[in-house]
Amino acid sequence: MARGKFISLEGGEGVGKSTQLAALAGALEGRGLAVLVTREPGGSPGAEAIRALLLEGDDTRWSPRAEALLFAAARADHIDQTIRPALDRGLWVLSDRFLDSSLAYQGEAGGLGIEAVRDLHRFGSLDFLPDRTLVLNLDEAEGAARARNRDGSSGDRIGSRPPSYHAAVDAGFRNMAKQDPERIKLIDASGSAATVTARLLYALGDLLP
Ligand code: TYD
Repeated sequence: MARGKFISLEGGEGVGKSTQLAALAGALEGRGLAVLVTREPGGSPGAEAIRALLLEGDDTRWSPRAEALLFAAARADHIDQTIRPALDRGLWVLSDRFLDSSLAYQGEAGGLGIEAVRDLHRFGSLDFLPDRTLVLNLDEAEGAARARNRDGSSGDRIGSRPPSYHAAVDAGFRNMAKQDPERIKLIDASGSAATVTARLLYALGDLLP
């Protein structure tokens, strides 16, 4: 059986990522693919336990370095326990966030630097990368407004950081897409949900059977 493909879906807060994740999974299944939807932080029992440590509590609960290590540890477990076994069974794995979130949030916005966070991934996960990363991109003001409409608040430990932090996250994603245009595709998240889903599928065109 052919190995499945590993796709990550990324983006800042409030870009419609959850809606698009479900729509994209449905579209891939409609093409006859078996799809496993997973998420970060989380996606395996160990990583879900780390998720609670990361997203609950006070913003100052972890230092930037400790936070980056926890994300990297969760990711190593997620890959070992969930992602690799599913790919080996021929499933397509669709992850709500992955490494590029750590590069954008902890590396770029958190000030650790992209290279330091990439080094953690080399150590923790042997630099295991998605076959394709789709970054939903909206201008920051519009995204923040949508997130507030949805949640009625600014959310968890990381979601509630100031607008300057989230603007740096968005800039980080755009930079990464520029540096690795083969793997990382920036997707315009404006317009109707169906239009955005069509853009996502188009960006996977060369991988589809
Ligand atoms: P989640 O509730 O899954 O948010 P969202 O709907 O925005 O995906 O919470 C995940 C939060 O963790 C989100 O604010 C992004 C952040 N995050 C990082 O800072 N680094 C990472 O490596 C990952 C995977 C997520």
